[in-house]
Amino acid sequence: MQFNNLTLQYKNGIGLLTVHRPEKLNALNKATILELHQALKALDSDKTVRAIILTGSGEKAFVAGADISEFSDFDVHQASQLSREGQELLFDFTENLSTPVIAAINGFALGGGLELAMSAHIRVASSNARMGLPEVSLGLIPGYGGTQRLAQLVGKGRALQMIASAQMIEASTAEQWGLVNAVTDPEDLLPHCMSLAQKIQANAPLAIAAAIKAVNANYVPEINGYEVEISAFANCFGTADFKEGTSAFLEKRKADFTGE
Ligand code: COA
Repeated sequence: MQFNNLTLQYKNGIGLLTVHRPEKLNALNKATILELHQALKALDSDKTVRAIILTGSGEKAFVAGADISEFSDFDVHQASQLSREGQELLFDFTENLSTPVIAAINGFALGGGLELAMSAHIRVASSNARMGLPEVSLGLIPGYGGTQRLAQLVGKGRALQMIASAQMIEASTAEQWGLVNAVTDPEDLLPHCMSLAQKIQANAPLAIAAAIKAVNANYVPEINGYEVEISAFANCFGTADFKEGTSAFLEKRKADFTGE
């Protein structure tokens, strides 16, 4: 696959996706959102890929937000379309992938950049990362799910503090608040994420997909997450991976999962 704003590398069953617009601090324009959608879709349907790492190119930014130059003259109708299409194509899409996505936050993650990281299943930040939702400083609010996901991750009070003040927080605060799972030195960020991805890779892919679905169900008000869990749990028993996992345990050997 050819991309203008991304690079995609395959490393032993792990897809490394890097947003590559360094001259714009990897800001998400429409073309980049579309390419991310296409790349994530391709990775998710590739059975050899068991985990995805998402990062930004260069040392300065993960993603410094949605590309402000693209929407500065939008009206209410266009803004509604921008938000809806972006959420469908990238943010909700990422959160609902079957393959776990780890955001490796290597610098500024602002606005749409933090929203992208929050759509990932797991976040790790380098110590130089700065995170924020500064949209109110532009006269708008987060439109790619930030008002919802930030409150889910750090609680309502901290979310509104970040959103209303438009201030960035440091990586250490993000870790303390549960916005990121770990903080590393910049040079250790990708190795740390690769090591985590390899641990995920050793487990049953269909079970991981079922776990993502069941955990996500908790955040959809009209869905009963416990019911989703019952059905996802039961479906695991119909997979070859369940037979392999339980047999391997009883035979005292390492399981070899095929994702079937
Ligand atoms: N949209 C469009 N372009 C952006 C951008 C964004 N969200 N963030 C950065 N850029 C561009 C800048 O316009 C600049 O382009 P130029 O060289 O053609 O002028 C380039 O990226 C480098 O950014 P610059 O502002 O010069 O870097 P800096 O180190 O001085 O500041 C930031 C870094 C992240 C603090 C600053 O770029 C910023 O505040 N960005 C916007 C963050 C934001 O509000 N995001 C939410 C959008 S909804």
